[in-house]
Amino acid sequence: MTEAIRWKIGITSAPLPPKASGLPFLGNALNIKNNPVRFVVEQYQKFGPIFRISLLGNEMTVLAGRDAIQFASTPEANDIFSLRESYGGLEIEIGPVILSMEGEQHRHYRKLARPSHSRSQAAPRIPELLKVVDDFIDTLQVGQSVDMLPAIRRMISTQLGMMMLNQPAGEYFDDFVKFSTYMLFVYQFQMWPKFMLKTPPFKRAKARVLEMLEGLVEYHHRVPPGNERPHDALDEIMETVDAMGNPYSHATLLATAMGPYIAGMDTASGTINFIAYALHKYTDVLGKVRDEVVALYDKGIPSADDLKDLVALNGAIFETMRMYPVVPFLPRTAKTAFEFNGYRVDAGADLFIATTSTHFLPEYYPDPYRFDITRERGPANTFNPYGFGMHSCLGAGMGEILIQVMISRLIQRVKFELDPKDFEATMVAIPVPNPGKYRLKVLEVRK
Ligand code: HEM
Repeated sequence: MTEAIRWKIGITSAPLPPKASGLPFLGNALNIKNNPVRFVVEQYQKFGPIFRISLLGNEMTVLAGRDAIQFASTPEANDIFSLRESYGGLEIEIGPVILSMEGEQHRHYRKLARPSHSRSQAAPRIPELLKVVDDFIDTLQVGQSVDMLPAIRRMISTQLGMMMLNQPAGEYFDDFVKFSTYMLFVYQFQMWPKFMLKTPPFKRAKARVLEMLEGLVEYHHRVPPGNERPHDALDEIMETVDAMGNPYSHATLLATAMGPYIAGMDTASGTINFIAYALHKYTDVLGKVRDEVVALYDKGIPSADDLKDLVALNGAIFETMRMYPVVPFLPRTAKTAFEFNGYRVDAGADLFIATTSTHFLPEYYPDPYRFDITRERGPANTFNPYGFGMHSCLGAGMGEILIQVMISRLIQRVKFELDPKDFEATMVAIPVPNPGKYRLKVLEVRK
């Protein structure tokens, strides 16, 4: 048992963690649906870093606060926490994905995939990324009221497809959206029964997704990288062997090809959707960000470093990711029994690591429910929108550029206002955290 963080692996006689009170059958489902992070923070403040909640008859153990994240980040925690039960659905339907890989297999694949997910992959392609945003802006009419999330999702998927595989999803985009929605609800949330995977809409979407992925893999086998096409994320994996020295399986290649089309679908898109809301809610902040980006674009197309230097823009991005994290908890399953902070967790227990609970603890972020773009970043392990440890987001550097490019260009070229003007975000948890049904009304479009 360590001193600073009190935990140990193995069966112990410690009691089960305290349980949050909830409604009959629903348990805490409404609390989680209406404002997941706030509810978890309140339970943390009441019970400490480990407690149980219940969701429609299923019990979950929640680990929250900085100690919990430090514990979950230790190398030994890899022997405790499994991701397979949460992300294995993609493996069943398409092939092994990085999030469901473990141990040496995961380390090996992650190292291979790092370059295609990196900041330096995105940095030279800013003009192409901007063109995708400009194509969207050029369709906007003054007076039009825009539901931003679908538009942002399409742009992000196009940008990632271009950057990582030189191939946007194009006419297959809606199939990827449908496919990932079913994956989320059936496997990850377990809110839809398995028979939904046998229904015609899902079967159609999956067949279309596979058609595109098979085509991509076949093309990569037939045409090696060179003059006809640049080296990309799929080549990285095809050209080498796995941790056991065997060529990567066809199923792994299909899953690799799928990554760029779904990786940013909910994460980068959801984050940009929240930033667009927050900027138009806090219009004094919008003014500062706009002044900064207009001055930058007046000098020409910005570089990745120029965008990184924008103080107000990056303050707004940081503060939005702190207050409105789109991946608030990470799902895990206990591979083995363990004890944490004097309570036991049995093998097989479903867990949430409440990675973003620290974003709302006043000891790290004073007055935590205030949107303040001048905030300092708290100490290590207190700002975790990209997860933690071995499986932390591989696309964080690339994601940062996507967010900076899209928000800066939208603000520079378009004047929007919130529609309705007094819209107040609620943290709607499903399908992924979102501010609820708001729109942006176009007031002016700059050429
Ligand atoms: C704001 C944008 C993003 C956020 C908030 C985000 C968040 C996350 C989080 C929380 C995880 C860890 C999941 C877990 O441990 O259960 C993760 C993993 C991952 N993300 Fe992101 N992500 C973002 C953008 C992206 C983008 C743009 C890409 C692709 C280029 C990407 C690729 C990945 C990959 C490959 C992993 C798995 C890493 C591994 O298992 O080793 N992400 N992301």
